[in-house]
Amino acid sequence: MLDVTVLTLFPNMFEGVFGESIFKRAVENGAARVNLVNFREFATDRHKTVDDAPFGGGAGMLLKAPPLFDAMAAIPRETDPLSRERVVLLTPQGRRFTQQVAEDFSRQSRLVFICGHYEGVDERVRQELVTDEISIGDFVLTGGEIAAMAVLDAVVRLLPGVLGNEQSAPDDSFSSGLLEYPQYTRPAEYRGLSVPPVLLSGNHALIEEWRRKHALYRTWVRRPDMLEHVALSVREQVWVAAWEQGDFSGIDVVERRDI
Ligand code: ADE
Repeated sequence: MLDVTVLTLFPNMFEGVFGESIFKRAVENGAARVNLVNFREFATDRHKTVDDAPFGGGAGMLLKAPPLFDAMAAIPRETDPLSRERVVLLTPQGRRFTQQVAEDFSRQSRLVFICGHYEGVDERVRQELVTDEISIGDFVLTGGEIAAMAVLDAVVRLLPGVLGNEQSAPDDSFSSGLLEYPQYTRPAEYRGLSVPPVLLSGNHALIEEWRRKHALYRTWVRRPDMLEHVALSVREQVWVAAWEQGDFSGIDVVERRDI
């Protein structure tokens, strides 16, 4: 059971995502539990202020430390120092989110997400409360909520019993270190476009080889950076060498290079 708490000023933003599909199933199956906390409730002044101007001047407002410290103190926490609890601040300054981070988070027992807003958060929140700062890419969102939803989606689908088909997670792009191979379903012939005959042959060894070759080829074209981390067999190295010479004779689904 993964216990998730989200500290946010906009809890309503999560309702659509948590109420549908895989997320809903994860909660119903008992794979995950989600708790939304509006930390504005922990502001102590009459106006429920959660932000203030930075010391030293400058544009923009910062999230104040006290409402976040008090919200963290109020939620259930793991007290065991060996506990698998992580407190994740979503911020464009964070470490880049990847499938590896999703796998790491999916092995925890408790995740707390702090959704930043405005120009940032008081540095003491980072120092004292946060174990991980995570960015979902090199662009700036107006707040951490959409980033937290993206991270949670990637994590929850890895929990045991959440995906209907247990096969689908390990085959994904990234877990093998390669992008996914091209896939087809019925009809075998559509608008003059036919499915590569190997896939209809029933020969599983050939199908496996075709898939590996096309996954590798697709990765070689689109994400050559990923190949630096994949160990290739001698045969696979021969395929790549042929493509590097401009020989695509074993390839059924030629890639456009501008995708
Ligand atoms: N908050 C604002 N921009 C973000 C980003 N790119 N990733 C995570 N959190 C953010």
